[in-house]
Amino acid sequence: MLNSDNLLSADLFDGTSVLITGGLGFLGSNLARRLVQMGARVFLVDNMLPGGGASRFNIAGIQDRVEVRVSDARDSQAMACMIRGNASCTTLRATPVT
Ligand SMILES: NC(=O)c1ccc[n+]([C@@H]2O[C@H](COP(=O)([O-])OP(=O)(O)OC[C@H]3O[C@@H](n4cnc5c(N)ncnc54)[C@H](O)[C@@H]3O)[C@@H](O)[C@H]2O)c1
Repeated sequence: MLNSDNLLSADLFDGTSVLITGGLGFLGSNLARRLVQMGARVFLVDNMLPGGGASRFNIAGIQDRVEVRVSDARDSQAMACMIRGNASCTTLRATPVT
């Protein structure tokens, strides 16, 4: 369980796979940066819609240590597929679900 004592433990996420939605935005990319430092395998899902906060600049320096998947977090099938780690999903480009 996460609490204030172990939240910053350096090895808490070591070797753990973490998928971050909105991963190319401000909060997601900063979370990714920290998780990479902690040894996590990080997947970033972002729909990268124009006018949103997504920018590849936000992951400068860690771009080779994360996997970016352009997809929409509301696409439940794509998300389920990614979570299962199906390699065929790595190239999914979803359109927004309305
Ligand atoms: N930045 C802050 O200090 C702060 C504080 C409190 C709450 N929040 C909230 O946290 C959230 C994230 O904030 P942020 O500053 O990182 O915003 P941001 O705009 O920088 O990042 C959001 C990211 O989510 C992506 N995104 C949006 N909808 C998506 C979808 N359906 N599927 C996939 N990707 C999608 C965008 O492309 C963007 O990259 C926002 O809802 C914001 O209101 C932010």
